[in-house]
Amino acid sequence: MKKKIIIANWKLNGNIKFIKKYLNKIKKINNKNCIISIAPPIIYLSYIYKLIKNTKITLTSQNIDTHLNGSYTGEISAEMLKDIKIKYVIIGHSERKKYHLENNYTILKKILITQKKKLIPIICIGENLIDFNKNNSKKICKKQLKYLIKNYNINIFKNSIIAYEPIWAIGTGKNANITHINKIIKFIKNFIKKYNKKISKKIIIIYGGSINIENYKKIIQLKDINGLLIGKSSLNIKTFTYMVKNI
Ligand code: PGA
Repeated sequence: MKKKIIIANWKLNGNIKFIKKYLNKIKKINNKNCIISIAPPIIYLSYIYKLIKNTKITLTSQNIDTHLNGSYTGEISAEMLKDIKIKYVIIGHSERKKYHLENNYTILKKILITQKKKLIPIICIGENLIDFNKNNSKKICKKQLKYLIKNYNINIFKNSIIAYEPIWAIGTGKNANITHINKIIKFIKNFIKKYNKKISKKIIIIYGGSINIENYKKIIQLKDINGLLIGKSSLNIKTFTYMVKNI
């Protein structure tokens, strides 16, 4: 069985006290079925990096800049992330699109610079509530994937993870149902297959959006799901530990 990737997206939450408590618990988990990756606010990456040395826990960055260095105040580069052994980078999260006005072009540039430095992008795609209600989920996901293929090529998915995150399910407590998730994941896989069979076989697809202790098991058991991107529930140490232990 391929290991499942479980990403804890803390968003703008956490502090030193929380980190110490969290890692004390997480470090003790020994579940060979999954890879745990923590995505704390960027300021804590370096601190956690030191605490997880000699463990199997990995780190994910919640963001990256489109440049490697230079006069870009407030940014963080792929080279810097590489320095402290970051493995994954979340790119195109709907909250960054909404609050930081990230667009398709920025997302493409971020993916390419991430791959250039041999980090793995977690490319977030998904439809909003209006499109979901209009039954446009496939159409929207296809549009987002197509932009990347058209403006680069299919190899953009070679060393990538795709996170299907319906926007209406993020942070809302409204989880997409299993049939819907399954349908979209299969669609994404088949869409990539049309361009390149090998890439579609290897592509890692994860799901995110209001994952909780009640629904995580059904989602992770779907054949084509390779992992979970967990926001709110990853901040509850008890819940997150339980979920990760039982995958
Ligand atoms: P949520 O967030 O689990 O709180 O819905 C998921 C995400 O934004 O990645």
